[in-house]
Amino acid sequence: MTRKYIVTGAASGIGAATVALLKERHEIVFGIDIHSADINADLSTKGGRLDAAAKSIEICGGTIDAVIACAGLVHPIAKTVSVNFFGVSEYLTEILPALTKSSSPRVAITSSMASLMPNSSELVDAMLTLDENKAVAIAQGLVDKGHSEASLIYGSTKRAVSRWVRRESIKPEWAGAGISLNAVGPGIVETPMVANMIATAEARAAIDTMVPMPLNHYLKPRQVAYLLVWLTSLENTHTTGQTIYIDGGSDATLRGDDIWS
Ligand code: NAI
Repeated sequence: MTRKYIVTGAASGIGAATVALLKERHEIVFGIDIHSADINADLSTKGGRLDAAAKSIEICGGTIDAVIACAGLVHPIAKTVSVNFFGVSEYLTEILPALTKSSSPRVAITSSMASLMPNSSELVDAMLTLDENKAVAIAQGLVDKGHSEASLIYGSTKRAVSRWVRRESIKPEWAGAGISLNAVGPGIVETPMVANMIATAEARAAIDTMVPMPLNHYLKPRQVAYLLVWLTSLENTHTTGQTIYIDGGSDATLRGDDIWS
């Protein structure tokens, strides 16, 4: 059965690899990005998200079977909050009615290993209360304090998105409508986003300390795409609310074997 997919961040990296994999598998797929996509929209603004949502519903003829949300920024700036958290949560909430019409609706989001890294709890809480103005102001305050505070922004967006997934997934609007809602938490993936971070031996040594990947080291974007595509496939009937770490063993290395107590 051919299904209709929307992929955000489709112009590059993990999103582009996911579009390619879905097309190879003969799915119908429409990409969203700020440029070079079927739907060009800026997910950092409310207007851009609403426009992207309306065009997604229209291009899919009213019924969307699956969304894979990859658009994101890693920069230590306030806009990262708007793209990584609100560009996911608000966009998905807008298209919920079209997902609900599918007989097998699924959503998967790219969170990150960074969801387990140090963060600003104040910023995470502001995102989870869906107060974008407050969250952006807190993030700007971190930027103003300097690099080490600003570097908490990315991990905060990913912690918030993984918590949002857990919180929303079990609600009547999602689980009650048969929609699985999950995230993936990649380690380091060789995409333009991290090209500078892994360009030199010194940079790689620093990253490898922060994100140790004993199993097979760095990922190619396609390897993340396989998991995103499985999570949104018909084979996934019961996995929901999860952040699945696809990280070469980073999570197990950093958090150890006892994460349940
Ligand atoms: P990328 O930089 O190659 O692709 C990101 C895409 O998002 C770009 O095409 C960009 O134009 C789009 N985008 C950015 N801002 C946008 C906006 N305002 N509106 C619409 N589109 C926008 O990055 P990559 O590596 O493919 O990242 C994809 C996702 O995976 C991101 O959410 C990232 O945080 C996450 N991730 C990446 C990791 C890595 O090591 N590359 C590791 C863990 C998570």
